Amino acid sequence: MNTVELIRKKRDGQSLTTEEIQYLIDGYSKGSIPDYQISAWAMAVFYQGMTEKETADLTMSIVKSGEQVDLSGIAGVKVDKHSTGGVGDTTTLVLGPLVAAAGVPVAKLSGRGLGHTGGTVDKLESISGFSTEMETKEFVDLVNRNNIAVMGQTADLTPADKRLYSLRDVTATVESIPLIASSIMSKKIAAGADAIVLDVKTGDGAFMKEEADAIRLAEAMVAIGKHVGRTTVAVVSDMSQPLGFAVGNAIEVKEAIDTLKGHGPADLRELSLILGSQMLVLSGKYQTAEEARHTLETCINDGSALAKFKEFIAGQHGNPEQIDHPEKLPQPQEKISVPAESDGIVQAIQAETVGLCAMKLGAGRATKEDQIDHAVGIVLHKKVGDKVKKGEAIATLYVNKKDAVEEVKKRMISAIDIQDRPVTPPALVRCIVS
Ligand code: URA
Ligand code: CA
Repeated sequence: MNTVELIRKKRDGQSLTTEEIQYLIDGYSKGSIPDYQISAWAMAVFYQGMTEKETADLTMSIVKSGEQVDLSGIAGVKVDKHSTGGVGDTTTLVLGPLVAAAGVPVAKLSGRGLGHTGGTVDKLESISGFSTEMETKEFVDLVNRNNIAVMGQTADLTPADKRLYSLRDVTATVESIPLIASSIMSKKIAAGADAIVLDVKTGDGAFMKEEADAIRLAEAMVAIGKHVGRTTVAVVSDMSQPLGFAVGNAIEVKEAIDTLKGHGPADLRELSLILGSQMLVLSGKYQTAEEARHTLETCINDGSALAKFKEFIAGQHGNPEQIDHPEKLPQPQEKISVPAESDGIVQAIQAETVGLCAMKLGAGRATKEDQIDHAVGIVLHKKVGDKVKKGEAIATLYVNKKDAVEEVKKRMISAIDIQDRPVTPPALVRCIVS
């Protein structure tokens, strides 16, 4: 095969065959095809797009570039959930134990956070002793015993994606739906998922700011799932304001505990129930989303979801006492109120700014090498549509280092738009693509 011919073919709007795509990804992985040719191909894809079949072929070529996690030692359908990244997105911490309590195995590979969106592993590491470092065998044993485990990513999964993503980053080819869709799906498939529930976020704090783009991405990923035999459902959900109230690490663990006890934020509970119902249906153990939702609600009401969370934490060497007593989770030296500057109704809470402010306080990483502070972050007191009075606290900063406080306060005040007029809060779920 001739690489220049393949680039020309895509440039001129034709489709590449399975073998041709495999040749490009193989060659790139082995180093026989250089960055500049793959850059040109990526730009051709950016302009010409790819068919569903090409996108599925690309996904599987990327999967084959590295190791694949073998979860065949776990009985039943392994359903994974993936979020495209949001601010204060605590759903995995709620969903994992909830779905496990309903009798469906949760075998999750999770990463650390980078930028303004947090990572599940970072949040869980707020709990003393908790560890996600393990071999696949131990991971499989834990899932078989407790129905749930979270493993940090150690295996060399999808190396072609890592290289391709870095290349796209510097060649203005990140914003291509087939390239994003194959990048995300390849990672889930390599991690061993039989079926996948996607939470595609849209709005200010999301990767996809526009709803129409989020829906196109959702459709592209669901189509990949169909082509490669991994049933996929995508929920397009709001990320124009942060999810729940807490944005940080220990404070998000506490928010998840509250939700598992039945008194967490309404939006976090609702999204967890919707995503969880989809996971239960894909597992094949439940026939309808309604039936599944009913079971999940029962697991919250009878305490079994919270008990499952404790079992999961203890199974990975975490201190379950901190689940019973969240005040024993890392606490900041100071809690500083951010007062509203006027009376009115909250019109918008810019999620991205809130995420960046939490990062500034130390809750997130700007670079991979940064250390995070589990105790710090931001707890909001209002959602869009809520009334506020001048001087009332609209947020509380959880602080250990005071140097960033004044700047964060200012940015938080400008991120929360208060006006004297009614507003319709954004719908939490925009659509479900299946
Ligand atoms: N997230 C990914 O994992 N891949 C992309 O290409 C874009 C966002
Ligand atoms: Ca939250």
